[in-house]
Amino acid sequence: QAFFKTIQNSDPHSITKRHTKISVIGVGNVGMAIAQTIISQDLADELSLVDAKADKLRGEMLDLQHAAAFLPRTKINASVDYSVTAGSDLCIVTAGARQNPGESRLNLLQRNVALFASIIPPLAKYSPDSILLIVSNPVDVLTFVSWKLSGFPSNRVIGSGTNLDSSRFRFLIADHLDVNAQDVQAFIVGEHGDSSVALWSSISIGGVPVLSFLQNQQIAYEKQTLENIHKAVVDSAYEVISLKGYTSWAIGYSVANLARSLLRDQRKIHPVSVLAKGFYGIDGGDVFLSLPAQLGRGGVLGVTNIHLTDEEMQRLRKSAETILEVQSQLGL
Ligand code: NAI
Ligand code: 2OP
Repeated sequence: QAFFKTIQNSDPHSITKRHTKISVIGVGNVGMAIAQTIISQDLADELSLVDAKADKLRGEMLDLQHAAAFLPRTKINASVDYSVTAGSDLCIVTAGARQNPGESRLNLLQRNVALFASIIPPLAKYSPDSILLIVSNPVDVLTFVSWKLSGFPSNRVIGSGTNLDSSRFRFLIADHLDVNAQDVQAFIVGEHGDSSVALWSSISIGGVPVLSFLQNQQIAYEKQTLENIHKAVVDSAYEVISLKGYTSWAIGYSVANLARSLLRDQRKIHPVSVLAKGFYGIDGGDVFLSLPAQLGRGGVLGVTNIHLTDEEMQRLRKSAETILEVQSQLGL
């Protein structure tokens, strides 16, 4: 006896809604912050978790499942075996080593590249049409590595990049001027890390271009004040890591925001790590770094052409060189 009586002449198994599946690899601080944000924002019908530690993985899966009565319905499963990810629309990779207090992201390279050789090929095998979204650090180089290991076209390999740094930037500017961060349009581009570049010349608040407004009104501002805000962005992760050991909530929201733009075809512009060769005069080699990119169901739909000052352009190229130099050690 079925619990529900079937409506006559209907086939309950003929599902018309498209099933959306997201996989999250690595269920540490970052993976779980992303997973819980994705579930609470109703972004997936199915969420698959993978980690190398079987007990931790099952514990995290059960803990999330036990919140079912308070959340949108999402089928949650987990396994150390990558077959659980089969048919994913989006695979988010957060597995790997994180920084110790004071350690740079680039210092994680050797440890995390080795892991990626066992993570990316099975993901690509089980979900050949998926979008790969890389979060593990150093995110720009690992996005390049994932592009190489997956064989996917570059529009389907994205790094979370400076989407997070730009949120920190917008928060600091909003806090400084006592406005809403969502009204602040401001981009940090380049490396997600120490060589990132703040695009001051294009910042606007509620449609008002900030620097030209100050200049037109002959309001003096110190270049050092701007440099200090950018320095605060760069120092943000170091500060949080020295205080609580890791960063998690902001990256959780940042990545869920990217997942929404991608899977719901929002066509929003995000600063994310993309194959940058050929854009903004970057031509030294295949390098992934953050540029303002339009995201939709097809992945990266395009890169916007923001006007950069000569100094911003120079800093962006320097950031590309920094990443390429690290990348050259890989021999890929
Ligand atoms: P964590 O140590 O809490 O979690 C890492 C997880 O990866 C662990 O559960 C571990 O068992 C798992 N793992 C290790 N090797 C694995 C393998 N071969 N296969 C599957 N799982 C494996 O670290 P946390 O804090 O979650 O950070 C994860 C990564 O995210 C780090 O590289 C960190 O630097 C990066 N991160 C990146 C951000 C960004 O903006 N791109 C922001 C914050 C962190
Ligand atoms: C962050 O910026 C550590 O990359 C990490 O929070």
